[in-house]
Amino acid sequence: MSSPPAFDSTGVAVLGTGSYHPEYVLTNEEMARRVDTSDEWIVSRTGIKERRIAAPGEQNSDMATHAARAALEQAGLKPTDVDLIICGTVTGDMPFPATACLVQRNLGAENATAFDIGAACTAFIFALEMAKLLINGGGYTTALVIGSEKLSAVTDWTDRNTCVLFGDGAGAAVLRKGSGNGFGRGVLSSDTGTDGRYAHILNQPGGGTAVPITAENVGQRLATLKMAGREVFKQAIGAMVNSCKKALAKANVTIDEIALVIPHQANIRIIEAVGEKLKVPREKVFSNVHKFGNSGAAAVAMALDEAHREGRFKRGDKILLVAFGAGLTWGCAVVEW
Ligand code: UT7
Repeated sequence: MSSPPAFDSTGVAVLGTGSYHPEYVLTNEEMARRVDTSDEWIVSRTGIKERRIAAPGEQNSDMATHAARAALEQAGLKPTDVDLIICGTVTGDMPFPATACLVQRNLGAENATAFDIGAACTAFIFALEMAKLLINGGGYTTALVIGSEKLSAVTDWTDRNTCVLFGDGAGAAVLRKGSGNGFGRGVLSSDTGTDGRYAHILNQPGGGTAVPITAENVGQRLATLKMAGREVFKQAIGAMVNSCKKALAKANVTIDEIALVIPHQANIRIIEAVGEKLKVPREKVFSNVHKFGNSGAAAVAMALDEAHREGRFKRGDKILLVAFGAGLTWGCAVVEW
């Protein structure tokens, strides 16, 4: 008779996931009434059919809190069990305090240290990596890792190049020291990278300390997202594929052993190209970009939760999370469930 798997104190298992998306569905048809675009253009260039938009007064921290509660519930843990909260976001409720602090307050997670990571669309992967390192070497035991964005608040609703792309939402995962007892080894490896030379091709130029919003410049909409889409597109595919290869090599896992690839949800053409270059069959590449558009740091986290709840992978499976975003930043994590 085989004995149960031994508890492995070096693992960082994923105990639960959660996500939240606002109720309001903004369709391509409604977009086409706002700017000079069409459902045909948006679907053929991006795969996006609709996106979710936060209700008036609904804050990033509210969405993050909903996702975190769902993840904790699935993990069977209380907020007070959590000693680390890392929130990936570039659309925090305010410049400071960090959105993670507001989530800590909302949850009553009084034992948790909380901070944000501003790695844009890659932030959930950066946060997973940081949580793993802090649990393995920093004395923490239980982390809430969140990706959450209210991109609708920094969207230029008159710019058809960008306004059709983005949406709001949040996703979360609970990580805990150890593995075995029915749980896989969790985050097996990660690879992350940055190239600040391209900071200018995807950014929010105003509203920070360099270019504060004043009565004189308010009409220029500088506190909104600007993107040189074609430039970003060119960088995204190669960076994501390289990052996957590096993370797989670190984990000593081959791509054939991966049950599901969960990429950042920016554009179906990028998602499919990454899958093709990695030689992964289409059915092993998860996408929900048609429903949510690009929700920044929330995208991989929301997709992870949806795929998990749909049973697209099971305990013991290995999955690949990969993202790319402003910075430029990119990252990949190999996770054993
Ligand atoms: O989340 C962080 C990472 N972000 C990304 O990975 C996004 C990467 N970039 C992209 O996904 C794509 O570059 C876009 C979806 C943003 C744009 O697609 P594209 O195929 O690169 O189009 P384009 O920017 O080259 O524009 C093609 C044409 C232009 O017209 P001209 O100059 O050829 O006459 C645009 O003005 O499409 C026009 N266009 C639109 N037409 C209708 C741009 N936006 C729209 C629109 N509706 N919404």
